[in-house]
Amino acid sequence: MTIALIIILCYLIGSIPTAYILVKKLKGVDIRTVGSGNVGASNASRILGKWGFISVLVLDALKGLVPVLILKYIYGESDLVLLGAISVVLGHTFTIFLGFKGGKGVATGLGVFIALAPISTAIAAVVFAVLISIYRMISLSSMCAAVTIAVSAWFISSWEHLKYFTIVIAVLIIILHRSNIGRILNGTERKVGRKTA
Ligand code: G3P
Repeated sequence: MTIALIIILCYLIGSIPTAYILVKKLKGVDIRTVGSGNVGASNASRILGKWGFISVLVLDALKGLVPVLILKYIYGESDLVLLGAISVVLGHTFTIFLGFKGGKGVATGLGVFIALAPISTAIAAVVFAVLISIYRMISLSSMCAAVTIAVSAWFISSWEHLKYFTIVIAVLIIILHRSNIGRILNGTERKVGRKTA
């Protein structure tokens, strides 16, 4: 019962399509028809600008951070917490409210990682900042940051199952960026500060 409740509640929280709602409310546009079509902060910024990016990033991160912090407070370093964490990320990436097609897991993953692996997340934030300043690609920087969290958690964390969790999320994020990987390889990936939508 508890397990089912955690999975369902976390999945539904993750499913709230904040980028879709904000863009629809503020511009009357379906975010899935614009730019990359992704229901996430980067794509929202192409329609709403910098504050759209920040708003979606913060809201999507909170979707991951708040429920996982609550679960961690209640259950400690338990598999129940990881179950809730993966449910919230899967809710975001496969939202029930948009036909199971949501975002790419970066912002909600960020919230989850802040709650579960703050030191690894801080290291990944540095990697992200360096890569974004050099290559100006959010997708590339996000994937490398996700891999950084998985690698550093492997060495830093004493929570054995968390190590596998970070690998699963990093792999999920990379798989969901496969269209970005194609564009990175052929040199057409969108860059921060350039209107190429
Ligand atoms: O958060 C997703 C980001 O890494 C890439 O988004 O819209 O450029 O495909 P987008």
